[in-house]
Amino acid sequence: MGGLRAPILSPTGAGLFFERDGALSWADGLLVPPDGAGEPMADVLLIPGLVDAHVHLPQYRVRGRFQEALLPWLREHIWPEEARFGERAYREGVTSEFRDGLIAAGTTAALVYGAPSADTAHAVLRDLAPLCIRGGDVLMDRNSPEDLLRDTEDALETSRQHAEGYGERYVLTPRFAPTCSPRLMAGCGSILAVRDVGLQTHLAENLDEVAWVAELHPDRRSYTDVYAHFGLLGPRSVFGHCIHLDDQDLQQLADSGSWVAHCPTSNIALGSGRMPLERHLAAGVNVALATDVGAGPDLSMLDVMRSFLEVHEGAAEVSPGQALRLATLAGARAMGEGSQRGVLLPGRAADVVAVRIPGGVGRGESGEAALRRALFAFEGRYEEAIAGVWVAGERLR
Ligand code: GUN
Ligand code: ZN
Repeated sequence: MGGLRAPILSPTGAGLFFERDGALSWADGLLVPPDGAGEPMADVLLIPGLVDAHVHLPQYRVRGRFQEALLPWLREHIWPEEARFGERAYREGVTSEFRDGLIAAGTTAALVYGAPSADTAHAVLRDLAPLCIRGGDVLMDRNSPEDLLRDTEDALETSRQHAEGYGERYVLTPRFAPTCSPRLMAGCGSILAVRDVGLQTHLAENLDEVAWVAELHPDRRSYTDVYAHFGLLGPRSVFGHCIHLDDQDLQQLADSGSWVAHCPTSNIALGSGRMPLERHLAAGVNVALATDVGAGPDLSMLDVMRSFLEVHEGAAEVSPGQALRLATLAGARAMGEGSQRGVLLPGRAADVVAVRIPGGVGRGESGEAALRRALFAFEGRYEEAIAGVWVAGERLR
């Protein structure tokens, strides 16, 4: 049992709900119709727990190192760190810091990448509790350093075992087409076709990456078509970035119900370019927001929401309410938790974040306007914006 009294801002199925004299109640981890008995909180706005639709656990300690573009950055900073993450003691330290970081950021659910070793699936799926986590170990079997290469058949067999053990929380994670053999991608497609699991990977983040895929797969129309060919598109699939795509690619993503994890802070950090949001939305592509730490410099989804409003200003129609939707309900849907999380409605998990609003939500001020003030007031120090975090009704901060 528990409850809170404060202004509430939450997406709903189609719109946005704002209540100045709001109240939330929960029992057994689920929201119930409010009984008004909750603890009052001053100068905050209650929103659903934030959802990060694309984040790399093993990159946490090297986040924010972005002197280079994608491919050299991966080789120089990321792959050596992911090799280190294979060592148990190192992994345990990083995982515990990452978990604390997510809670401090108000992120209550996330779709998480491990590293290229089978054991890292346990760090992702067991050691981040009680947060709501889906994800898996990274699969890569070519064009990578020797110590990160996985045996193709071995990696696929372990993935089947993880899918058996963790069920739908396990997510197939082929890194991206350049480091995955046709056999590995085809194997992922076969698992997707028969198991109740999802898939996450990267797509068209950087022009050198796109050119590399064209060289590796001269028979395919495009990078998107490579994934389509191996049966990797679908409503359980989440593609990170998706910046450099043509209309046919966008149509393929939309028609298949695939998700795009849009990572504006990461795209700035690696100089990848602006994802043309207006084209994705016009084509009907599903979009959720994400940090992409360690390319993204900060685990805060509030930082991502602020960046989202800034980078698309003047090019696409964006609003704080839309940023909130993409950072909560859309993320929950992308990760397969949409029927249980992402909105503050009776019957859903009591995943709640109290965001500090300087001076409180003003009389006559909308919830969206108050949220916008917080997003810009706390830039660079978002942990101070988080006044409370509850997961399934349990207070974690
Ligand atoms: N493409 C392939 N691997 C990665 C990664 O770890 N981070 C980002 N941002 N892009 C990638
Ligand atoms: Zn990524």
